[in-house]
Amino acid sequence: MLAGVAAGVGGAVLVEGEQGIGKTALLRRALGRAGTARCALAWGAADELGQRFPLWLMTECLGAGRELAAGNRGPPGRDGPGAGEGEEQAITPGPLAVLAGPVPPGDPVAAGVERLLARVDRWCAVSPVVLVVEDLQWADEASLLVWQRLAQAVGQLPLLLAGSLRPGPVGDELDRLRRGLLSRGGTVVSLGPLALRELSELAGRLAGGRPGARLAEAVRRAGGNPLYTRELVDALARDGRVRVEAGVAELAGPRGVEVSVSLAAVIERRLSALPQEMAGVLRWAAVLGQEFTVTDLAAVTGRTAGQLMEVVGEAVTAGVVGEAADARAAGEGVVAGAAPRMAFRHGLIRQVLYDGMPEALRAALHLQAARGAGAGRRAASTGARVGGRVGAGVAGRCRARADLPGAKGGGRAVARCAGPDPGR
Ligand SMILES: Nc1ncnc2c1ncn2[C@@H]1O[C@H](COP(=O)(O)OP(=O)(O)OP(=O)(O)O)[C@@H](O)[C@H]1O
Ligand SMILES: [Mg+2]
Repeated sequence: MLAGVAAGVGGAVLVEGEQGIGKTALLRRALGRAGTARCALAWGAADELGQRFPLWLMTECLGAGRELAAGNRGPPGRDGPGAGEGEEQAITPGPLAVLAGPVPPGDPVAAGVERLLARVDRWCAVSPVVLVVEDLQWADEASLLVWQRLAQAVGQLPLLLAGSLRPGPVGDELDRLRRGLLSRGGTVVSLGPLALRELSELAGRLAGGRPGARLAEAVRRAGGNPLYTRELVDALARDGRVRVEAGVAELAGPRGVEVSVSLAAVIERRLSALPQEMAGVLRWAAVLGQEFTVTDLAAVTGRTAGQLMEVVGEAVTAGVVGEAADARAAGEGVVAGAAPRMAFRHGLIRQVLYDGMPEALRAALHLQAARGAGAGRRAASTGARVGGRVGAGVAGRCRARADLPGAKGGGRAVARCAGPDPGR
């Protein structure tokens, strides 16, 4: 794409994926050297606070009152040496100005949109332009409009427009943006978890040796997410839990792995962006274990499966949970079951949700879950499984019964409930 725009052919690309999956890393690798391809580069990122201010993102990105020279603005610095100050020049009509509708008098935002579009027009008249706008999930509405208008114009300009976003729970606006881009022949790159081999390579680089079996198992809980993997391995190394011998990095000390404060903070930031209702349902799911079914959830929450489907669907879109088969592909250990099963995409997310609950709330949820099971609200086919897991949770406090009907995992459940978290 970089070669294309350098030759004057524009294009638009969106990179999507969950927190820490590598969107920025990919964009940097692909487009960070735009300057050497004689393209001007502008790079900006939205943040949660900026979305309250109209055009904040695009003004940051395109620079208020500045003009761009080739290769001057990009990651990581904002203002390159040639970014001159000065008054806005007279607008030269270009493809973007032609696409523009009339500006309603007295509407400063609409006027701002047109000014920014005209600026890009002007830049494109001087050299090919690469414009990267990151974290569109936090973009203010007017900035999204600018991005959209630019995307519509890439066929007529030497402009490579790139964006990154975390998928859902997103508003209609982002869905439209994505669909619109695809319908015009743009590219959407969806980043998934690292493959096991890549994960092992990354962990090996971070740990200073090929991961041994126990370290590899611990790292798998990061579900193929490079950020979580990095945080996890760094924290283990900091705590002196990684020992390297004969080129093999192995986990030392007790088998369990605590989630470090820094990793928990990263994950909590992600969880805090989820709608409250979803977070509530996910807490229930965390009590059920690494895996659960919607039937399980319905039984313990007292909601119908139909009511839960929407929330669970959104959690899937947000990349927090997935079908257990997906989790298996991502390297999570899952148990085969007859009913379709959901699983947290990362063991770490579940653990942070679980650990983040006050002890009293956790105990109450376990108890309520056990009552849900006892009241027979669960379908017979799922009773055995949940009985095992819920029983495990209650066991820590009230001596769970390994003889719950059909509870195959009962023995294991009781064994595990010595620790505070039955799902770990
Ligand atoms: N393929 C990869 N191999 C090794 N490390 C990677 C890979 N992709 C990303 N990383 C590292 O993982 C971390 C997170 O990556 P990055 O910042 O690109 O994620 P992101 O998807 O942009 O996240 P966010 O949604 O928070 O913006 C970084 O430290 C990055 O260097
Ligand atoms: Mg990023």
